[in-house]
Amino acid sequence: MKAIEWLGNALRILDQTKLPHEIVYRDALSYKEVAEAIEQMEVRGAPAIGAAVAYGFALGALEYQGNREGLPSFMEEVQDRLSETRPTAVNLFWALRRMEDRLRECWDVDDLDEVRRLLIEEADRIADDDRRMNRLIGEYGNEIIPEKSNVLTHCNAGALATVEYGTALSVIRKAHETGKTIHVYADETRPLLQGARLTVFELLRDKVPVTLIADNMAGYLMQQGKVDLVIVGADRIAANGDTANKIGTYSLAVLAQAHGVPFYVAAPTSTIDIKVANGQEIPIEERPAKEIRECFGVAIAPEEVNVYNPAFDVTPAKYITGIITEKGIIAAPYSVNLLKLMVRS
Ligand code: MRU
Repeated sequence: MKAIEWLGNALRILDQTKLPHEIVYRDALSYKEVAEAIEQMEVRGAPAIGAAVAYGFALGALEYQGNREGLPSFMEEVQDRLSETRPTAVNLFWALRRMEDRLRECWDVDDLDEVRRLLIEEADRIADDDRRMNRLIGEYGNEIIPEKSNVLTHCNAGALATVEYGTALSVIRKAHETGKTIHVYADETRPLLQGARLTVFELLRDKVPVTLIADNMAGYLMQQGKVDLVIVGADRIAANGDTANKIGTYSLAVLAQAHGVPFYVAAPTSTIDIKVANGQEIPIEERPAKEIRECFGVAIAPEEVNVYNPAFDVTPAKYITGIITEKGIIAAPYSVNLLKLMVRS
């Protein structure tokens, strides 16, 4: 099941807000529709958002009706709209930068259709890179998975959060495929329940043994020795290794350290933001209050209650045992090793 699929003149988006009970697709024909789908989290997960904005950018060029000279300023509007959708996942800005660079390289191409073709080609490359990186994350990550293990994961860092295969779930899938006895505890991940709705859905389809738990149960499980390691995805990794991921990840990392459980982050290098020195500089998205006051349209709290709804938190690097990337696994000191990793081909 693909989170996104390019149809040649539209981006097919699997509406993840309806999963697991309904499988509904939206064919976005304009960059504004892609932006809306990202804001409403029909498509979500850092790498999937990156690929979606790349195709959204290409769609903007397809929609453009003016002459060649006017294209760059129109594309700035496209880029601005796509940039304002979700602030934390750096893959979004990474993909837009690649698209912008490609457009700039086309400055001497007069034929608008040729420019459009080259932009679609770049978006395809971004999607292909994601597929390739995720497979490699699985290969490298599998090295740290014991023959028999119970792995805890948070939110959804699976195929649905990427172009294909996933990041944290890529490691889990690879371990399962290579015959290891792996069992997953999936945090339900309030408020939007990506764990309960998406991770569980993906793992059941792949026949990977999975047990769903409420978010507040992780500590008790670790205390009972039921968790061998934790693997999560990431939305942005700062130059010092501090990692932003779905709200609740930080608490898990602290719990893991208190119980001597290894805590891994799995992410492609497109999620590493070397320009951001540390976690305090990572912008954290705040989402609407109704996501907390309600659970899928059903009120669960008094309407007038104050709500705080940060979508992500930052796990300080000191709690992270290793970062699994498509170029290998790195450990502390992250300030040194992330820089080395980024220059490695
Ligand atoms: O708000 P979401 O569902 O987009 O958050 C997703 C996550 O936090 C994922 O763990 C992260 O994007 C990595 S996905 C491979």
